[in-house]
Amino acid sequence: MSTQPKVLVSRNIAQSAIDKLAKQCQVDLNLTPNPLPRSELLARVKDCQGLVSLLLDKIDDELLTAAPQLKVVSNVAVGFDNFDVAAATRHGVMLTNTPGVLTDTTADFAFTLLMAAARRVAEAERYVRDGNFTEWKLDLFLGQDIHHATLGILGLGRIGLGMARRARGFEMKVIYHDEIRAKPEVEKEYALTFCDRETVLRESDFVSLHVPLLPTTRHLINAQALGLMKKTAILVNTSRGPVVDEGALADALEKGQIAGAGLDVYEYEPKVHPKLMALPNVVLAPHIASASVATRTNMALLAVDNCLAGLAGQTPPNLLNPDVLKNRR
Ligand code: GLV
Repeated sequence: MSTQPKVLVSRNIAQSAIDKLAKQCQVDLNLTPNPLPRSELLARVKDCQGLVSLLLDKIDDELLTAAPQLKVVSNVAVGFDNFDVAAATRHGVMLTNTPGVLTDTTADFAFTLLMAAARRVAEAERYVRDGNFTEWKLDLFLGQDIHHATLGILGLGRIGLGMARRARGFEMKVIYHDEIRAKPEVEKEYALTFCDRETVLRESDFVSLHVPLLPTTRHLINAQALGLMKKTAILVNTSRGPVVDEGALADALEKGQIAGAGLDVYEYEPKVHPKLMALPNVVLAPHIASASVATRTNMALLAVDNCLAGLAGQTPPNLLNPDVLKNRR
């Protein structure tokens, strides 16, 4: 019998990451293109010491109880709202994520959505494909200017700051709100103005969301928040769907209370609110903000490094629950 630890990889990830893992572990890889059904996930993780998970895998008390040998769960994602952190700490299981490696790719995409919504790229593309481009018109698909506009960032973590860096190239004014104010040198370097949340909503031409999903950020953007925004404003969400009350957003877009939105994430993912599907002034993407070949590979490699470190009895580089070190399995 192999003495190597057993690791379940819940979805096919970059081959280089699998190869790295397979040098030191017995790998049970889900080769199907779909997430493992819950019952199968529970059955296959039962005798594993490691789990490389995706954000669709719910890591909770039930799973941790079903896998008594589990030492480390390593998400291939920076967000970890699929983890019950307190339960894992109680069970002595280390949890990790993949920050840093996806910052620029995700910020690139948030900016892509901002630009696509501002300049109505998706609508215009559909118009051409539908054979409607019969003559040049002065007033065809008039959009919003990006240069010199005000960008409001809610949540100034790594990706929020990445957005601010990109905005500088467009000579935008950048205002932000975060629970923790940035250091004065960071504010100075990126010409950032700290404001309360309401001021960010009121004064921005573009509002980009970069907060984690927490009980305090669920429906951060609700009807009231949308009511504060400019009629010409555009909302960009690459964080987590439930940060926005999707029904309220659809109503605001339909009524012209705000001008548009660029969305990569959805409240009931992968379902998209039917009203949003029908609205022309929303750019919809299927949760792909970090989806470049290089970044998805780097995320998988980092997740494997975290997993291997945990299995070797070291502290993983991206440990989310350091309290676990007092009683880890
Ligand atoms: C993707 O959404 C991630 O959290 O990495």
